[in-house]
Amino acid sequence: MTRNTSNLKRRSFLKKVVQVCSAIGFVASMVLYWLYVFPKQRGKRKIVYVYACATDDLPDRGVKHFFVDYPLHGRTVTKKIFIVNTHTADLFALSGVCTHLGCLVRWDRRARRFQCPCHQGQYNLSGEVVAGPPPAPLQRMMLKIDNDRVLVGLMV
Ligand code: FES
Repeated sequence: MTRNTSNLKRRSFLKKVVQVCSAIGFVASMVLYWLYVFPKQRGKRKIVYVYACATDDLPDRGVKHFFVDYPLHGRTVTKKIFIVNTHTADLFALSGVCTHLGCLVRWDRRARRFQCPCHQGQYNLSGEVVAGPPPAPLQRMMLKIDNDRVLVGLMV
């Protein structure tokens, strides 16, 4: 009698363990299915336009750097950007962050190049790599003018 009762309790316990494991497996597979079917819903990024300068502060010709503040993950981040006016193309904005390891580049007016002090990466006026280890050009950013305010588009 005692042995049968003990066997029944053990079977009941094992049955519950199997049910709980099945439920956990079902929920886990539904989460994986959701992540597989809707991958773009996660980490979706958008462009925010932030104030860079007044139109009066734009370079007449050449390059000028600015620091812009923008919101990212609940805090304010400062980013160095360059606004370039070549008079042969539209006004455009470049990120001041080197694409090699993320150092801040500076504009060398004499050499007419953006230069990275960390590993001597160099970029031309358009932001294309001309020397050193950077794997990609400087990131070009959207630029728009709204009521004498120059705004740059940043991915957040
Ligand atoms: Fe700019 Fe390495 S971080 S060249």
